[in-house]
Amino acid sequence: MMLLQVQHLNKSFSGKPVLKDVSLGVETGNATVILGPSGAGKTTLLRCLNFLETADGGEIAFEGTSRPIRAMTKREIRAYRLRTAFVFQGFNLFLNKTALRNVTEGLTVARGMDKKEAAERARAALDRVGMLSHEDKFPHQLSGGQQQRVAIARALAAEPEIIFFDEPTSALDPELTGEVLSVMRMLAEDGMTMLIVTHELEFARTVSNRAVFMEDGAVVEAGETARLFTSPEKERTASFLHITK
Ligand SMILES: Nc1ncnc2c1ncn2[C@@H]1O[C@H](COP(=O)(O)OP(=O)(O)OP(=O)(O)O)[C@@H](O)[C@H]1O
Ligand SMILES: [Mg+2]
Repeated sequence: MMLLQVQHLNKSFSGKPVLKDVSLGVETGNATVILGPSGAGKTTLLRCLNFLETADGGEIAFEGTSRPIRAMTKREIRAYRLRTAFVFQGFNLFLNKTALRNVTEGLTVARGMDKKEAAERARAALDRVGMLSHEDKFPHQLSGGQQQRVAIARALAAEPEIIFFDEPTSALDPELTGEVLSVMRMLAEDGMTMLIVTHELEFARTVSNRAVFMEDGAVVEAGETARLFTSPEKERTASFLHITK
């Protein structure tokens, strides 16, 4: 079943088109990766999908009928955002809060959950990413990989229907990327719906069911990961993926 379907998304910054008629769909239970060179518009696309940025035009369907993005009300956007979560390149943790508080904050503040229930949910999420024993630590007492796992726990605790990841390992030292990628792999195996921007091609190839290759603000090619990585239709996809056609 299609969970999220985006169509004809457009976005310009100061008159410069950055997303040009981008369409893509994410099925429930699938991990979909977005690949492409720097400046392709991958981050802008994810930010538009989570309303951190407002697209200039396009439609979005989330488990149902398509809505023009510009016609969506604040209430509709809020309801949609409560069903989605975002994991950032730079973790975006509160530096003055413990790992546990970083996870509970969104539950108590944005969702009005009581503290005890929020703490229970947060501990379960921290446990899932292997960070429960660090619940009382502040971000500066954790490695980058551990901080990113706390950020993933924060996303999970919200029980979203989809998680957007924007290059979750690109701020990490190479030796710390593995622990974050293995947490994401576990989530994919558990059937979490994810849309992942990544430069880790080997990870993308092995974790995802579908892949989207973007360049210069447009989708060049999209399809099943196995096909895209073995017999892409476009020369450009092949050269980006280092496949000799
Ligand atoms: N807030 C902004 N204001 C102006 N231009 C922007 C803004 N955000 C992004 N851009 C421009 O939009 C284009 C796409 O940027 P974006 O960050 O989405 O690319 P990306 O594919 O995520 O690249 P990278 O792989 O380097 O993260 C770039 O040319 C960038 O300079
Ligand atoms: Mg980016």
